[in-house]
Amino acid sequence: MKSIKKVFYVALMSFIVVSCGSNSQKTTDSTSNQDEKEVSNDPPSYDPKRGTGKFTKVEVGEKLDEKMATEGKKSYDVKCSSCHKLTDEKLVGPGWKGVSQKRTPEWIMNFITNTDEMLNKDPEAQAQLEICLVRMPNQNLGDDEARHLLEFMRQNDGVK
Ligand code: HEC
Repeated sequence: MKSIKKVFYVALMSFIVVSCGSNSQKTTDSTSNQDEKEVSNDPPSYDPKRGTGKFTKVEVGEKLDEKMATEGKKSYDVKCSSCHKLTDEKLVGPGWKGVSQKRTPEWIMNFITNTDEMLNKDPEAQAQLEICLVRMPNQNLGDDEARHLLEFMRQNDGVK
């Protein structure tokens, strides 16, 4: 009876050893997969005027869309005003006065919806980061909300 137990034990041990061996094989496999994933997929034509993100063409009217601007103001009050003033004065981030003239609509839309990637890749965004020393957190904005905020920035810059 004792020897049967022993055989069983030995068999069990060798099974564990084998399965550990195959596990470590898997580990090396998944490491090499990770390497492949780290290859960045830069959009082939990076354009500093629009930065990086999904917005390649944003239509803005000559006149203000008041409805959008009003919605934008509401989002600004909740999500942005703790770090951005509407003047040219810096708070945590740069003041918004003139931002809609300094940047293209596409750049602004990409920056506010794709903040991390912009801060990693866009020289203008990085220059602001150097001044502010704080990385703007991604605000998880939907496309419409971002567009409303852009309209509010235009209103703040005098578009009527
Ligand atoms: C926690 C602080 C913080 C919040 C909240 C925040 N920002 Fe920012 N923002 C920054 C900082 C800091 C920068 C400068 C770039 C950097 O350092 O990351 C910046 C830069 C910007 C710029 C570029 C300005 C320029 O002159 O180039 C825009 C546009 C902007 N933010 C829009 C927004 C919008 C829209 C919201 C709200 C939905 C928002 N931010 C919320 C901190 C913040």
